[in-house]
Amino acid sequence: MEKPLKIGIIGVGSIAQCHARGFLKDGRATIVNVCDLMEEEAANKATKWGAERSCVDYNEVLKDPDVEAVDILLPPSLHAKVAVQAAEAGKHILTEKPLATTLKDCDEVIAAAKRNHVKLMVCHNQLFYPPHQEAKRLVDNEIGNPIMSTSLLHGGFGASGWREDPVIGGGFLLEACIHRFYVSRYLMGEVKRVSCMTAKSTLELKTEDIVLVNLQFDKNRYGTISANRGAPPALWDDRTEVVGDDGMVIINGVEDCILGGLPLMHYKDGAWKSYMTPRVFGETAEGMEGVPEEVKFTTNEIDNKFVNTFYYVIKHFIDCVVDDKTPFVSGEEGRRLVEIMLAAYKSAETGKVVNV
Ligand SMILES: NC(=O)c1ccc[n+]([C@@H]2O[C@H](COP(=O)([O-])OP(=O)(O)OC[C@H]3O[C@@H](n4cnc5c(N)ncnc54)[C@H](O)[C@@H]3O)[C@@H](O)[C@H]2O)c1
Repeated sequence: MEKPLKIGIIGVGSIAQCHARGFLKDGRATIVNVCDLMEEEAANKATKWGAERSCVDYNEVLKDPDVEAVDILLPPSLHAKVAVQAAEAGKHILTEKPLATTLKDCDEVIAAAKRNHVKLMVCHNQLFYPPHQEAKRLVDNEIGNPIMSTSLLHGGFGASGWREDPVIGGGFLLEACIHRFYVSRYLMGEVKRVSCMTAKSTLELKTEDIVLVNLQFDKNRYGTISANRGAPPALWDDRTEVVGDDGMVIINGVEDCILGGLPLMHYKDGAWKSYMTPRVFGETAEGMEGVPEEVKFTTNEIDNKFVNTFYYVIKHFIDCVVDDKTPFVSGEEGRRLVEIMLAAYKSAETGKVVNV
């Protein structure tokens, strides 16, 4: 690429530093405009990331002739409106998950991107987590016939701000459990039926904070997802396991590995094989400057640094723009996940199993 891709970042909250780091590390992009309702924060981040301009109105980013692609890092219900307008302005789009909070909104974003010939990618970042990618290879080749998956999220992160609001945030299931849904589907195949129970641990909550899901996949495969956000503050357990008739795979957490454990384990022929990594506890996007980007994998070494998932997402997004390729997590993929999760909500409301 002769000239760097010029990026506008919309929303500079908790996840923005991970995205900005990805663009800056890749080296094929420059951040030129930064937007947030919090004016000072936007200006500070613009200075930090080397952007020439900052603003409080995202329309200024969309009107900026320099900006070629936008990264939408806003609360979920705002993704669609901004993405449609970005497409109409001819900007390529990377958006945080979920693509949108309704299927109608998903359809409008997909149609606008097609109409305007811009790339649309949803940040399902855990699909770019090397232990998940290696687990996929193992599930497809090294555990016999996959029978059942178990994926869970137990976090002590509570809910505040827009996450408490079911309309803006979409709810705990849609906003946070989405990682567990797309990872399960990636490993096990397409979802056919879903049943779900949701609950609130205290009556004052506006959205569910406990989620229990059963999934039926193609090929007579099954899975469960269980999640809650009321665990002790420092605890983060987001494990996934797949058992087949000739082996088993455990991905021991993405944002943290419990017991300081190994990121990926594989059982076959009566023995466990593990994948080692120099895990850095308490790492943040700020503190990752020294991590080598081109990690060399051997059979027992794997990059399990959560912050690098965003770097891999962004690398792929830039590849797609530069080489005119369809993103791995396209608008249609993003829509499908929303469809499955809305079916789970429907099941929770009706008490019935829902075909999807
Ligand atoms: N992939 C992941 O692991 C991951 C992790 C965290 C968050 N996310 C997603 O990223 C998105 C943002 O989450 P967050 O945790 O960074 O939220 P946040 O609340 O920390 O940040 C959102 C920012 O958007 C700004 N904002 C809101 N409305 C705006 C508007 N109209 N114009 C300009 N700025 C506006 C807010 O001022 C805030 O700074 C959500 O979709 C969330 O689901 C993904």
